[in-house]
Amino acid sequence: KVDPAIRDGCKELVFDSSQLQELSKRFLADVHKGLKKQTHPSSIVKCFVTYVQDLPNGSEKGKFLALDLGGTNFRVLLIELSKDHFEMRSKIYAIPQHIMLGSGEQLFDHIADCLAQFMKQEQVMSETLPLGFTFSFPLTQKGLTKGYLERWTKGFNCSNCVGNDVVQLLKDAIARRGDVKIKVCAILNDTTGTLMSCAWKNPYCRIGLIVGTGSNACYVEKQKNAELFDDADKGSGNVLINLEWGAFGDDGSLDFIRTDYDRDVDTNSVNPGRQLHEKMISGMYMGEITRLALEKFTKQGLLFGGKGSEALFTRGKFYTKYVSEIEGDPPGTITSCKDILVEELDIPHATDQDCHNVRYVCECVSRRAADLVSSGIATLLNKINEPRVTVAIDGSVYRYHPHFHNLMMERISTMINPGINFDLMLSEDGSGRGAALVAAVASRIEQQQQ
Ligand code: BG6
Ligand code: GLC
Repeated sequence: KVDPAIRDGCKELVFDSSQLQELSKRFLADVHKGLKKQTHPSSIVKCFVTYVQDLPNGSEKGKFLALDLGGTNFRVLLIELSKDHFEMRSKIYAIPQHIMLGSGEQLFDHIADCLAQFMKQEQVMSETLPLGFTFSFPLTQKGLTKGYLERWTKGFNCSNCVGNDVVQLLKDAIARRGDVKIKVCAILNDTTGTLMSCAWKNPYCRIGLIVGTGSNACYVEKQKNAELFDDADKGSGNVLINLEWGAFGDDGSLDFIRTDYDRDVDTNSVNPGRQLHEKMISGMYMGEITRLALEKFTKQGLLFGGKGSEALFTRGKFYTKYVSEIEGDPPGTITSCKDILVEELDIPHATDQDCHNVRYVCECVSRRAADLVSSGIATLLNKINEPRVTVAIDGSVYRYHPHFHNLMMERISTMINPGINFDLMLSEDGSGRGAALVAAVASRIEQQQQ
């Protein structure tokens, strides 16, 4: 049903198996580079050591606060863990764009303010609770509670933060207020939280993955392979590595598959030249890539009789959620697609044939994202080389795209070595429960060592 000219125009978005193999090879080489001490400053896939070594064993307990910054929502949480059970209360607070692009001081004052409001509401102002800080940006860690911001990613770009210890910035903001007491027990990435949250109940969990506003993964590595880990003589023999795979390609290694759409998205982002892999995958960019393709096909006369609309030709007006909704139409039907084109994009003249074509473009963009993610995950599964591994996943794209899970299952299956079995598991509330678990495991280990 799809027009051959559209199919043809989308070819550059479709990978063949040799491209996927090449991708996997380049990614693995970058991971190896990232793990090495001497080449680290120039490595692209950073392989940050997280200082999370021990996975939870289900026995963790206590009451914790958590902050969750860097995804679609900023949240403050209160979590109570007991054996096999956890309870959580949380509140979402807005971070206005002027704060996302303002000064670091403003950002952390705002965070501290939301924390204080929440603690008041939950009547825990007088307690000194342990706090886990899920901070979903690249950090060079010097311990479980020391993380230096390497760079901002996604929509954030606050001044005076890069190079600073983010835990200290939070503590300073709390001290400026003077009305709240907390004990920061851990700072972690959302991928780490996702993995920990799943590992609480699932002993096979070795990889944490986010396909949301941004994209990234972490995995369990042998301590001896992580040259940057300076507590080498301590711990369980394993350490969690935050890959920061969003930056894969920043040295040109993805140029063989990038398109004009990707270059356009990058040029118009707040961080040009950075996070090129992420920009081909994640929810912050997927809608715009689709829009650029639709715009091009319209201008070539292949869609909507050559007549677009102001919305279709305006940056940012095609949301990633439209891709999910359009692909959610049962095969052969076009209800959501028609609605979106007519109501949201102001194209009342869209025909049924246009709808089939638009759906195909969406499918190519989301399948490409799923292929990129799958290639990375298959590479990690082969590297870990255990017979059974669970991948814990979170993020709006994975959660809401109707086929992302199946696309990943299919593609990973074709790329893993024989004898490896895997499953993909949605990790519920990784950044909240995961933060509490990292804090709890840290205090369990501390007590054991005393
Ligand atoms: C969620 C977390 O679980 O997953 C977020 O609470 C995290 O903070 C996220 O970053 C990733 O998804 P998204 O789509 O919100 O970026
Ligand atoms: C960005 C961040 C990374 C995070 C990911 C998913 O890539 O740099 O730390 O894990 O987004 O939220």
